[in-house]
Amino acid sequence: MKNIVILSGAGISAESGIQTFRDTDGLWENHSIKDVATPAGWRKDRTLVLEFYNQRRRQLKDVKPNKAHELVKALEAFYNVQIITQNIDDLHERAGSTNVLHLHGELNKSRSANNAKLIYSQDGDINIGDKAEDDAQLRPHIVWFGEDVPLMSEAEKIVKEADILIVIGTSMQVYPAAGLVREISAECTLVVINPNDTDFDFNGRAVHIKENATKGMTYLYNELATK
Ligand code: OAD
Repeated sequence: MKNIVILSGAGISAESGIQTFRDTDGLWENHSIKDVATPAGWRKDRTLVLEFYNQRRRQLKDVKPNKAHELVKALEAFYNVQIITQNIDDLHERAGSTNVLHLHGELNKSRSANNAKLIYSQDGDINIGDKAEDDAQLRPHIVWFGEDVPLMSEAEKIVKEADILIVIGTSMQVYPAAGLVREISAECTLVVINPNDTDFDFNGRAVHIKENATKGMTYLYNELATK
């Protein structure tokens, strides 16, 4: 079986009702990255940071995977499918996908504020005073700006083995995630699904399906499922 690698971003979950970050009305329009997505923001106001991610976690209970997530799962009948997602939601898993690597962390996990290796599953809110086993405050298991991306080298290895890389619903503005595209082999087919253009330079290698995720994946699935 050939290897399909999916690099997904917030746009794949947009039609499920989850806001993207950088579109008009995106999350970063109304929240400051500095305040809620950096170690400095955490040091300044833990309550604000916890509440931001608690809201996002609560919202997960009201949304469902959409057809794009489902079609990514359905490709597993024909290909080895590995997902590398920048998303912190669990919609790929809830659509049934088997191999999901969360580059930027997961809303449904928490970790010790002092030890990135002490990770827990997290169902409800994280509150001030909730402690890890090392007695440190729990924080969301999210990679904030300025922090290392621990799964990056694993993601690079996966991308190097891709026969087809599908980049779906990401503005390609955040590194090192966006740089993964540079790791593809000379033989790899590169497909981008995004209703908008991005500033990222795909070196002329990308076939751009200029549609939203559900329509773009429907088209691509019909192309790929028959081969
Ligand atoms: P962005 O909000 O930066 O980009 C979302 C992309 O999705 C844009 O290029 C939109 O054109 C596209 N889009 C919007 N609606 C869509 C739809 N229905 N179908 C397909 N595409 C659609 O989100 P990301 O690129 O995921 O990191 O952002 C990367 C990272 O920046 C996130 O993981 C997050 C954020 O800060 C952290 O929080 C660490």
